[in-house]
Amino acid sequence: MKHLVVFTGAGVSAESGISTFRDSDGLWENYSVQQVAHIDSWHTNKALMLDFYNQRRKQLQQVEPNEAHLILAELEQHFKVSIITQNVDNLHERAGSSTVIHLHGELTKACNERKTEVIDIAYGDINLGDKASDGSQLRPFIVWFGEQVPMFDKAIDIVQTADILLVIGTSLQVYPAASLINYTDAPIYLIDPKPEPRKGVTIIQAKASEGMRQFFREQVGKLTS
Ligand code: OAD
Repeated sequence: MKHLVVFTGAGVSAESGISTFRDSDGLWENYSVQQVAHIDSWHTNKALMLDFYNQRRKQLQQVEPNEAHLILAELEQHFKVSIITQNVDNLHERAGSSTVIHLHGELTKACNERKTEVIDIAYGDINLGDKASDGSQLRPFIVWFGEQVPMFDKAIDIVQTADILLVIGTSLQVYPAASLINYTDAPIYLIDPKPEPRKGVTIIQAKASEGMRQFFREQVGKLTS
């Protein structure tokens, strides 16, 4: 089977009802990155950070994978599929995708301050005073600005073995994640309703579900014709 590597961002979950970050109604309209997504804020305002991610976790429990997530899972019948996501939601897993690498962490997990202990918390809250086994305050298992991206090297290895790279719903503004597309010579497809033109990238200008229907028809059609 050919190796289809899929690199997703907030746009793949938009039709499930989760806001993207940088669209006009996006999350950063209501919160500043500095307040809720920077390691420095964790040191100065843990309560606000915990509350922000507790809200995100509650919202995640109420939404469902959309057609784009479901088609990606179905593509495993035709390709070896590896998903690398910047998203902290679990919608790819809930849709049935079997290989999902989270570059920016996972909402349904918590960790100690040093990130050496990771535990599943599902959709529960993390409260001030909840302690990890080393006595440190439990925190969301999220990669904040100012922190290392530990899964990045693994993601590069995966991208380097791609026969096709499919990018869905990301503004490609956050590094190092955005640089992943530079690690392959394979054909690159980008599904996004407001794509930035990029040299050598085949653009499918559409929302994720519509774009995935088109991608599935074309690519699975090629395999069977
Ligand atoms: P952005 O909000 O920067 O970009 C979302 C992209 O999705 C844009 O290109 C939109 O045009 C597109 N989009 C909107 N609706 C869509 C739909 N229905 N279908 C497909 N695409 C759609 O989100 P990301 O690129 O994922 O990191 O942001 C990257 C990182 O920035 C996030 O992982 C997060 C944030 O800071 C951390 O929190 C560490």
